[in-house]
Amino acid sequence: MIVVSKKNSSTFTGDVLVVPVPKLDESEFKLEPLLQGYLDLPMQNDDFSGKDGETFLAYPGDTLACSRLFFVGVGKDLDERESFRLCGGVVAKAIRKIKGKTIGIDFRFKDIDLAIAGEAFTEGLLLGSYNFNRHKKPEKDAPPEIKKITFFPDADGPGFRKGIKRAEIAAEIGALARDMANEPGNYWTAADFAHFARDLSANYPIKSTILAKKKCQNLKMGGLLAVNQGSADEPRMVIMEYRCKKKKAPTLLLVGKGLTFDSGGISLKPGAGMADMKYDMCGGAAVMGAMLGIAKEQPKNINVIGIVPATDNMPSGSAVKPGDVITCYNGKTVEILNTDAEGRLILADALSYGVDKYKPDAIVDLATLTGAVIVGLGHHNTGLLSNDDDLTDKVTKAGAKCGEPTWRLPLGKEYSKQIKSKVADIKNIGGKGGGTITAAAFLEEFVDETPWVHLDIAGTAWGFTEKSYIPKGPSGTGARTLLELIRAWK
Ligand code: BES
Ligand code: ZN
Ligand code: ZN
Repeated sequence: MIVVSKKNSSTFTGDVLVVPVPKLDESEFKLEPLLQGYLDLPMQNDDFSGKDGETFLAYPGDTLACSRLFFVGVGKDLDERESFRLCGGVVAKAIRKIKGKTIGIDFRFKDIDLAIAGEAFTEGLLLGSYNFNRHKKPEKDAPPEIKKITFFPDADGPGFRKGIKRAEIAAEIGALARDMANEPGNYWTAADFAHFARDLSANYPIKSTILAKKKCQNLKMGGLLAVNQGSADEPRMVIMEYRCKKKKAPTLLLVGKGLTFDSGGISLKPGAGMADMKYDMCGGAAVMGAMLGIAKEQPKNINVIGIVPATDNMPSGSAVKPGDVITCYNGKTVEILNTDAEGRLILADALSYGVDKYKPDAIVDLATLTGAVIVGLGHHNTGLLSNDDDLTDKVTKAGAKCGEPTWRLPLGKEYSKQIKSKVADIKNIGGKGGGTITAAAFLEEFVDETPWVHLDIAGTAWGFTEKSYIPKGPSGTGARTLLELIRAWK
């Protein structure tokens, strides 16, 4: 629970009073005298300056009502959301260590938008508190969950509370995407994606449609079916629809790769690191997260359709083989030369079905699509490929605002030529060079002329840039960017 208090922070009686401090001269920034007193000696001794990441703990004894004081640096860039998000994450880690349950936050800054700062700080604090231990025996000494957070801002308008609310939703959907990804392949299957969508429509104004195997066969979704061919579990095309009340609102289609485990199929992956391929559904998780955010916020000016093609990719006697030719939903034939390039096959059907059925004004897809994006961009930027500059701009801005940066790579006919096949319309691999681009060029065959952005999150969905509010495992990347894209849609 998060509350905003009008009182002075000196009245706070909980476990820890957190005091974020910017790196500014004393002439520019001063705390309340009682708190400022704690800073004087550490600052004189150069032990603390308010630099980002700096912290120290103090015990107020009888001078204050709380048990501990925790000073934390925010740094200089007070106009950056990221400074506050990172600071929130640092606080989350420290609170875990000292097992704080009730936290106060003395939140006072001059000359900045306090609501934005409060929002970003809360996001970092909540995302930084994330922890996944569903499959472990509870530890005796485990840190408790934070029960109550009380903000003591020096100006608490309705904007501040609104910012907190937005942060709570953003953090919740990020955590949801992380949870789905963290569930191992045997706990998170195509059926689980379908159940989640069903639950969403039971609780919110979201319509869900699950296309089970039979229906996919009737609709001739050859891509999803081919990838699923070797599996013991049936595939699902999971569809969620949010419609706003406005008559002439644009429709945004979100598509996320829901590959619940990617063994590579007959083109089997090497054993080392294969377990990580339980995360190959992170695109689907991001879309599910975004749909939950939309369900909660119910935007007034946009319709949103979310589609998650879901299956695992397994080798077996019935599995699709290199050399096989399949026909996708839109009638295009594909020569499968590597069964490990399966993401594009399931996305092909989701994209063309989405275009055909919902006639969207814009499409964003997210997928852990290529190892090549890690070669190109490492783990610090999501690869962005698009046929539309305006949509690119929107998605780039949304990502930047959320601390989920993107970097655009080109498309073009030279790359499209790399996926021409001798025996079918196209093939599912593009040969040497530009693996991320040829994968996107493949997807481009299934979006017609619709403005479209493809996000290759293979490098950022897990093992993302180490930050205080991003864990080592699944990052939940994409969910917050999508929600921000929708919040800012004009
Ligand atoms: N899911 C993988 C991509 C991937 C690799 C994600 C590493 C995260 C980390 C995808 O299905 C795949 O296997 N792609 C192949 C494509 C290749 C066969 C053209 C790849 O990147 O090696
Ligand atoms: Zn693969
Ligand atoms: Zn894959």
